[in-house]
Amino acid sequence: MKTPPSQIIDEEVNWDKTKTIVSKTDTYGTILYANDVFANTCEYNPIELIGEPHNIIRHPDMPKVAFKALWDALKKGKNYHAIVKNLTKTGRYYWVITDFTIDKNEEGIVTGYTGRRKAVPNSVIKKIEPLYKTLLDIENLKGEKASELYFDAYLKEEVGKSYDEFVVDLFEQEKSKEEKATINTPKEEDEPNKIKKGLNWFFFGDFL
Ligand SMILES: Cc1cc2nc3c(=O)[nH]c(=O)nc-3n(C[C@H](O)[C@H](O)[C@H](O)COP(=O)(O)O)c2cc1C
Repeated sequence: MKTPPSQIIDEEVNWDKTKTIVSKTDTYGTILYANDVFANTCEYNPIELIGEPHNIIRHPDMPKVAFKALWDALKKGKNYHAIVKNLTKTGRYYWVITDFTIDKNEEGIVTGYTGRRKAVPNSVIKKIEPLYKTLLDIENLKGEKASELYFDAYLKEEVGKSYDEFVVDLFEQEKSKEEKATINTPKEEDEPNKIKKGLNWFFFGDFL
């Protein structure tokens, strides 16, 4: 049974930003699998998460329209990317970019979905946070439909691409700026530059 935190604390939780947070759900968004990084980051015990709806970690700063767009894409069979602010058990938050993929059985029937998440640079959060705030304000004052129409028009007029493309491009640009800024540091020389190998390497590189 979902037990939301009793308070919201405007403070980022401490987590290992080099790691990948993984969860798997059924087709309704019920959590079937949570890796230890996921459980540790959102401050739950893995067993507490299993069988719960994924909105157990939904942060109230996230506009509904962001999740509507996610579910519309998944229901159409499209993989998806989103930048999400999540809520921990103690009411803290963490921002991630999530790569959503569709799981199918041998007959090709959709059995559920997988979310793989990585930390996002602060510069990405700074660009996305005001947009989410506007969408949330529209939702609260003018309703969900108004927020959805604003989101569609914003993407068309200001961004010129879908939300999924916007997220991937924004993330890649900011990540590569961040990596250029830290170039020549000993750490950078030691580690292969994953992002230059593409977003797939970034999400799945740990397992390749
Ligand atoms: C694989 C998968 C992973 C998800 N991960 C998250 C997540 O990390 N945070 C989140 O708030 N919602 C996540 N969702 C979306 C939730 O199912 C839900 O739609 C969202 O929290 C909004 O809650 P609501 O539908 O009750 O408004 C995920 C859904 C799927 C299918």
